[in-house]
Amino acid sequence: MVKIGIDKIGFHIPHYYVDMNDLAVARNVEPAKFTIGIGQDEMAVASITQDPVTLAANAALNILDEEDIQAIDFVMFGTETGIDHSKSAGVYVHRLLGLQPNARTIEMKQACYGATAALQLAKGHIALNPESKVLVLASDIARYGLNTAGEVTQGAGAVAMLISANPKIMTIENDSTFLTDDIMDFWRPTYSDIAYVDGKYSNEQYLAFVKHVWDKYKEETNLSLDDFTAICFHLPYTKMGVKALRTLLDEGNEATQERLQTNFDESIQYSRKVGNIYTASLYLGLISLLERKELEAGERIGLFSYGSGAVGEFFTGIIQENYRDHLNDHYHETLFSNRTRLSVEEYEEVFSAKLPTDGSTVTLNTENDPAPIYLSGITEHMRQYENKKL
Ligand code: HMG
Repeated sequence: MVKIGIDKIGFHIPHYYVDMNDLAVARNVEPAKFTIGIGQDEMAVASITQDPVTLAANAALNILDEEDIQAIDFVMFGTETGIDHSKSAGVYVHRLLGLQPNARTIEMKQACYGATAALQLAKGHIALNPESKVLVLASDIARYGLNTAGEVTQGAGAVAMLISANPKIMTIENDSTFLTDDIMDFWRPTYSDIAYVDGKYSNEQYLAFVKHVWDKYKEETNLSLDDFTAICFHLPYTKMGVKALRTLLDEGNEATQERLQTNFDESIQYSRKVGNIYTASLYLGLISLLERKELEAGERIGLFSYGSGAVGEFFTGIIQENYRDHLNDHYHETLFSNRTRLSVEEYEEVFSAKLPTDGSTVTLNTENDPAPIYLSGITEHMRQYENKKL
């Protein structure tokens, strides 16, 4: 049976962020509530020149080479921040990256679960077409609104993954358990640019889904917590992951508990500085783990994906030999170190900026945007994108 999984993986984040201590002071909240109670240090803020398309395209730009660009025959774009009810965000990315034309391109939506659905479908596609390479994109801008309880859990960013046979980073195993339940824990009606959420209920449902799919996984595979080196969770904010790990940890022996806790702590470091990036959050956690730890070939990583509404899945991957040679950690470090810290007033201004919806033409000031791919304006309801590198 051909091994299929993640051949390359990278992320992109906007060049602005807000420090959670600043936000806490501005909102009259004890800073420890945000940094410890919620578990976030910084929050990425997308400028008006960065949207889900550009974030995803920038993430992909840094992992693909010419051979990939010629080989990709399927682009799947997971997002819940779609910019169009009809056209897939992936089609813009396809052009911006100069991918070969004989490819399929679609957008996938199920809240934060979209990219996992894409990853699993990519796997099926490659099982039938082993020469194929699939570009899976996960890109979102999490918005709850200024001065809301959810504000501290906002964020923006994208992850790009190249899925192929005989992957260099991690194979995805076949055992996987999933659950769908029609609930209203978090949703965003098509007329709203901010999410509606029942915060406490969403936390409870997330944990109930973890328990359900994990119990089912154990039942179906006869594996236990001791078979895992690490478990990555969807991270709407890192404290949610802490709670999820806590629900499982008692099942492991002492060494397992220590190992899973240490590796979990590494998996949340990037998210602490970015915030929720919805469908990309689980994969940002995986990148954080892969880049910050020296994992051994053959080690098993568990992944819990959750998309409100709700769909949850537990699935697993196996680390490949010399996987570290294929990561982009230095580039990712530069992305973090080159960011500009916004005051809360500046963040509020950036957050409130909007593109016109009346068909008028606007040319954006892109001077301060260091990303190679950006939104340069809008004309007659059509977003204008540019890639400095093409
Ligand atoms: P809240 O009401 O502001 O916070 O909402 P809280 O009062 O529950 O406090 C949060 C934590 O801070 C508590 O810890 C407090 O004790 C602690 P906990 O009891 O939970 O362990 N705390 C302090 N800690 C230290 N020092 C202090 C202090 N004060 C309080 N001084 C909430 C928090 C997360 C509900 C809110 O931000 C929210 O609604 N966020 C959005 C919803 C969300 O992220 N839900 C997560 C599960 S659903 C999901 O993951 C899907 C999602 O990604 C969407 C998708 O699928 O597309 C959201």
